[in-house]
Amino acid sequence: MSQHSTHHGDTPPGNALTCEGIRRSFKIGERRLEILHGVSLELRRGERLALMGTSGAGKTTLLNILGLLDTPTEGCVHVDGQEAGRLGSTDRALLRNQKIGFIFQFYHLLPELSSLENALLPAMILHGRGAFRSRRPEFEDRATAMLTRFGLAQRLQHRPSQLSGGEQQRVAIARALLLDPPILIADEPTGNLDRGTGEKVLELLFDEQKERGVSLLLVTHDERLARRCDRVLYMEDGLIQGDSSAPIPT
Ligand SMILES: Nc1ncnc2c1ncn2[C@@H]1O[C@H](COP(=O)(O)OP(=O)(O)OP(=O)(O)O)[C@@H](O)[C@H]1O
Ligand SMILES: [Mg+2]
Repeated sequence: MSQHSTHHGDTPPGNALTCEGIRRSFKIGERRLEILHGVSLELRRGERLALMGTSGAGKTTLLNILGLLDTPTEGCVHVDGQEAGRLGSTDRALLRNQKIGFIFQFYHLLPELSSLENALLPAMILHGRGAFRSRRPEFEDRATAMLTRFGLAQRLQHRPSQLSGGEQQRVAIARALLLDPPILIADEPTGNLDRGTGEKVLELLFDEQKERGVSLLLVTHDERLARRCDRVLYMEDGLIQGDSSAPIPT
């Protein structure tokens, strides 16, 4: 067990994110195809948890549910102690906005916004136009400081199309961290980057996680990366198959 899971003295014990008995099926024509067959897992506070598994196992489907981007057919999700399924769509969106930073394989930045504006989006959503305007300087300072730390001081006004993949992902990480959420969910965050760039982006992500004591759930196909996590879960055919509490042997 690495020591970063307990570095934050003020991190309360217990779980940051849990799900229980998650099923998800999709209707394809006349047929219902079940992708998740009853998945339960817990992400402990301050923990770095890796989720691995073959392509098509259902990892992204599960992450979207845990990240409150999708709702399960059955089962429940608790985010920081709150059951998401009990909430209406507005409260769910608010819970997601405040508690979860989501990082996608393909960045999902808004093409018409600058790096700085993309990083500011969670605050715009949280406060609404009017209230955001009055607090904009504060958030701009925070986003600018983060983007500068990520090596993007000269890229604040660039649009995503004017950025490299690694730069876009760093903007996406800044966006995910802007409101200081206790939970980070990352779906193959370096899956679209070359090895060197991917490693730099990952160092940055791990550094931020450690510093902030955030709980991180990370989907990856990379064993070397999983080895640097506290725990690894394996998913196959819509079910969690195994849990390695010990790091993967080299
Ligand atoms: N909206 C949808 N409608 C129908 N089927 C879907 C939908 N989303 C996912 N699936 C199916 O669910 C299965 C699991 O997909 P998912 O994207 O979760 O896999 P994954 O484990 O993330 O794979 P990869 O490692 O390739 O990213 C796939 O067979 C996919 O076709
Ligand atoms: Mg996937």
